[in-house]
Amino acid sequence: MSMSPASELLSWYDQHARILPWRAKVGQTPDPYHVWLSEIMLQQTTVTTVKPYFEKFLRLFPTVQDLAAAAEPSVMAAWAGLGYYSRARNLHACARQISRDFGGKFPETEAALQLLPGIGPYTAAAIAAIAFDQPAAPVDGNIERVLSRISADTTPLPALKKPIKAYNQTLVPAQRPGDFAQAMMDLGSSICTPKRPNCAACPWQNRCQAHQQGIAESLPRRGPKKPKPERAGTVFWLENNAREVLMARRPNKGLLGGMLMFPSRGWDPQNDTQVPDLLPANWHKLSDEVVHVFTHFRLTLKVEAQTAPPGFQEPDGYQWVNPRDFADEALPSVMRKIARLVLA
Ligand code: ADE
Repeated sequence: MSMSPASELLSWYDQHARILPWRAKVGQTPDPYHVWLSEIMLQQTTVTTVKPYFEKFLRLFPTVQDLAAAAEPSVMAAWAGLGYYSRARNLHACARQISRDFGGKFPETEAALQLLPGIGPYTAAAIAAIAFDQPAAPVDGNIERVLSRISADTTPLPALKKPIKAYNQTLVPAQRPGDFAQAMMDLGSSICTPKRPNCAACPWQNRCQAHQQGIAESLPRRGPKKPKPERAGTVFWLENNAREVLMARRPNKGLLGGMLMFPSRGWDPQNDTQVPDLLPANWHKLSDEVVHVFTHFRLTLKVEAQTAPPGFQEPDGYQWVNPRDFADEALPSVMRKIARLVLA
């Protein structure tokens, strides 16, 4: 008797599942808080980057109630460096809602999960499947790649998404749908890789139409890519005589929302945080610049530094921060790059 595609994949998973800190061990029940936290962190970030953050969050906030009770700045500071900071604010809002409205228990269906802050269709499906063994079919980039190849679907992204989602749903087994979803993720990241897929080791090699046609590596097709717009600006590094640096907290909404930054201008028209005019104009320009690539643009920043004159008072909304404390502060990666440049 031939096995179903799902059974073949699950047998492979039983041998080869990655050991990940948020993943339940064989025979253990997954912890929905761990599953949710990992899925939010993994939304725009790789497994390797997420691991230490995941562990730090569990140390600082062992339960969803602990996270709900934490002060917002401590959550933002723990998140700093992971990027896409609206995820951290939504994470905190979601924890509060779970704690307040659901007594700390996560809802178990895709539909109910999707009503929570920060949980979209993909994340709802992933949590429902992995934490609650619901027959949900999350589709991320890895899974898209696997399924486009199995079916040799040459439709370019993003039009490919809809047929792949429907196809995935037909494959989900009644038994172990959570393991099935995780097996697809593992297959996509370890075997069915974007370049040079290891087809010889694939449990689905015999079913894979793209492999048979010799086109696996070319799938999924992508529509034409637009180049990223370029932006440029200047950052001002102002030190007081205690060696502290002037910083401002960005508004909660928008790019780098709620994060600390050095005064700057020119690159983000909505959110310039400028040093006031009463400073003398003798800035020292650094010869190196900092480049940081955001999702929607590439940013080049010039850096200028000076020591505040005697009597300089920080303006409203600004604060002095000791560089020794940067590690504990909600400092986004682009600001860390600037600090590294100036302090080098
Ligand atoms: N990517 C997104 N969710 C994941 C998970 N649960 N395990 C591994 N990679 C993932």
